[in-house]
Amino acid sequence: MTTKSTNITWHESTATRADRERILGQKGATIWLTGLSGSGKSTVAVAAEAFLISQGRLSYVLDGDNVRHGLNNNLGFSPEDRTENIRRIGEVAKLFTDAGAIVFSSFISPYRADRDAVRELMAEGDFIEVFVDASLETCESRDVKGLYQKARAGEIPEFTGISAPYEAPERPEITLDTNSQTVEESVGVIVGYLESKGYLGSSSG
Ligand code: ADX
Repeated sequence: MTTKSTNITWHESTATRADRERILGQKGATIWLTGLSGSGKSTVAVAAEAFLISQGRLSYVLDGDNVRHGLNNNLGFSPEDRTENIRRIGEVAKLFTDAGAIVFSSFISPYRADRDAVRELMAEGDFIEVFVDASLETCESRDVKGLYQKARAGEIPEFTGISAPYEAPERPEITLDTNSQTVEESVGVIVGYLESKGYLGSSSG
């Protein structure tokens, strides 16, 4: 999307991201969870956030259902609206990352091009794509929100996995097999990645 407004100039802060990251003792990052509805994205995001907070880390979850109540309450589930949903979330995640937070974004984000656009928006290493890989069969058998049943009955149009596409990542930084992994194991994989790549600095506060 191009910029509509004219006569606008970028105003630089004097405080830098590095200043904020020094205060926090961590590196900002966006951990971008993608997967089918019911694959476990939000469950893993919330558990990972809680773990990091318990370790004195600043972490924040951006969640599909929640963001659609506010910022994106004018968007539906057409391909165009999903693209705009992800574009806005990408911009928000970028701001939080610049603030030094470890962001978990939990959106189906079914289109590869939309996810790649967010990756492009962010600096190298700021975007960590996590494929929350549960089969459609698994998600449908869980049917936590009862949405698959409704989608099968034709009551929800354009439902991801049933009547709308899901494009799995080709080279995600992390894949979580939530068919078989526990939530704790998935959190462990993410936290292990952050530790090994130096996002969590030396010690917690
Ligand atoms: S995305 O495709 O634009 O990334 P997002 O993650 O924000 O989707 O929202 C998905 C959530 O909205 C699902 O977990 C589900 O609760 C709800 N939902 C309602 N209608 C649909 C639909 N047609 N397809 C997928 N999810 C839907």
